[in-house]
Amino acid sequence: MALDKTIYIGAFVHCATLTELEICTGGSIGVGDDGKIAFVIKDRNSESLPAGWEAAREVKIKDHGFFFPGFIGIVSDTHIHAPQYPNAGVFGKSTLLDWLNTYTFPLESSFSDLANAGRIYKRVVSRTLSHGTTTACYYATVHVPATNLLADICKEKGQRAFVGRVCMDQMSPDYYRDESVDSAIEASRACIQHVKEIDPGNDIITSIITPRFALSCSTEAMKRLGDLHRETGVPCQTHISENPKEIELVREVFPECSSYADVYDKAGLLTPKMILAHAVHLSKDERALIKKRETKISHCPASNTALTSGAAKVRELMNDGITVGLGTDVSGGYTPSMLAEAREAIFTSRHRAMLDGDEAKLSTEEVLYLATRGGAKVVGLEERIGGFEVGKDWDAQMVSIVGVDSSLDLYQTVGPVEIFGGESWDDKVAKWLYTGDDRNTAAVWVKGRLVHKTSNFEG
Ligand code: GUN
Ligand code: FE
Repeated sequence: MALDKTIYIGAFVHCATLTELEICTGGSIGVGDDGKIAFVIKDRNSESLPAGWEAAREVKIKDHGFFFPGFIGIVSDTHIHAPQYPNAGVFGKSTLLDWLNTYTFPLESSFSDLANAGRIYKRVVSRTLSHGTTTACYYATVHVPATNLLADICKEKGQRAFVGRVCMDQMSPDYYRDESVDSAIEASRACIQHVKEIDPGNDIITSIITPRFALSCSTEAMKRLGDLHRETGVPCQTHISENPKEIELVREVFPECSSYADVYDKAGLLTPKMILAHAVHLSKDERALIKKRETKISHCPASNTALTSGAAKVRELMNDGITVGLGTDVSGGYTPSMLAEAREAIFTSRHRAMLDGDEAKLSTEEVLYLATRGGAKVVGLEERIGGFEVGKDWDAQMVSIVGVDSSLDLYQTVGPVEIFGGESWDDKVAKWLYTGDDRNTAAVWVKGRLVHKTSNFEG
C-alpha cells in the first residue's frame, strides 16, 4: 500500500543507549512512501530539508508532546497470550499450575469457536495498538483456524506480530490438547504455511513455533519442533523457570536433563531465535548456557507478581550479557499496556534492590530501552525497529501531554493550559512513564501506516 511521504515535526525521544535518552526538542523525521525513515533532522533551525521534500505532508506535535518509538512487546510486547485477554485481572490467589487449570485452559479451549476467537482477537489487537504496542509476540491456542485468524487480524489492523500456535501434547486436559505428536507438528506446519501465504516476506507477520512449556510437551514433540525450527528458520517461544513447583515437576518429568534450560537445549530449541518468558529462578549454569546459545529472555514482571512466581533478577541477566525485553504475559499479567509493564519492571527491580542492594534498581531509561530497543533485539529486528534512525521502519507513537483526555498533570497551575512550565525533559518522560496511560497515546504508526488514533491527534 503506497503511503504519503510525510514529515513528522516536533520533539523526538528515543533510547540512545541502555542508560541514556536522546531528546531532540525541535526535530523533523521524513518517512518515505515505503514507511521507512528517509532522513532525521535533529535541529530544524540549523538544518534544511533534503531536496524533494518541500511538498510532503506534515504531522506536527501539538502542545508539549513528543514522538517515541512504538513498544516492542513488548513494541514490543515480547510475550502476550491473546486468547487470555478476557481474563486480564482475574487470577484470584492462584499460582501458576492451578491458575492454568482453573482460569486459562477453559478459556483457551473456547477458541475452537471461530466467531468467539475473532471477536476477542480483534479486541486484543486494537487494545494493544491503543497502548502503543507496535510489535507483539502472541501465543494463540492449539486451534489452527483461530491462530490463522489472529494472524489475519494483525495484518489487517497493521500490527507487527509474531503469531504462535501453542503445542501441548502431554499433561494437559482431555478437552484441550494436541492428540499426538504427529498432529501437533502437522498443525504447526499449517500455521507456518498460512503466514507464508498472507505475508511471504514476513513484512509485518511472522510465524513463531510455540511449545507451551516443558511440562505440556513430550520430549518427542519438543525434538520434532526443534527439527522444524532448524528446517524452516521460523523463530520459537516458550516459558522457562517461572514457578518453583513447575521447576520441581520439570525435574521429575525430565530426569535425564540437568536443568530446565537443558530440557530445551537437548531438543535443539535453545538457539538465538528462541524467546524464553519469565526466567525467574534460573541457576548460574542455566544463565551461562542461555548466554552461550544467544537465546533471548522476555521479562514479565506484572505476571510474576500477580501469580507470586517470584521477582526475576534482571540486573543479573543483563550483567551476564543476556538480551532482555519486556512482556505483559496477559493474562498472567493484568495489563495489556507496555507502559504499565515498564512501571512494573521498575518496581520489581526496587523490591530486588531491597534484598540484593541498589545495583538491582532499573532506571526510567533502562526500562524504556527494554520496551523498545531491547524488545527489537529479542525478536531479531534491531535493524528495522526500536529507534529513530535512517533506514528503520516508522514504528512510532505520538505521546500527547495536553489534551482533553490527558491523564498527565505536571506543574499544573490554574486552568487548562499552563500544565507545563519549567520542567526538564527527563521529568516529562518520567511523568509519562509513571502516570501516563493510553489516553496519552494520541497516534500510532507501524511501517508508516497510521494504525491507531484518538481525538488528540489531528492529521
Ligand atoms: N506456562 C505455561 N503456560 C503458561 C501461560 O499461559 N502463562 C504463563 N504465565 N505461564 C505459562
Ligand atoms: Fe506466558
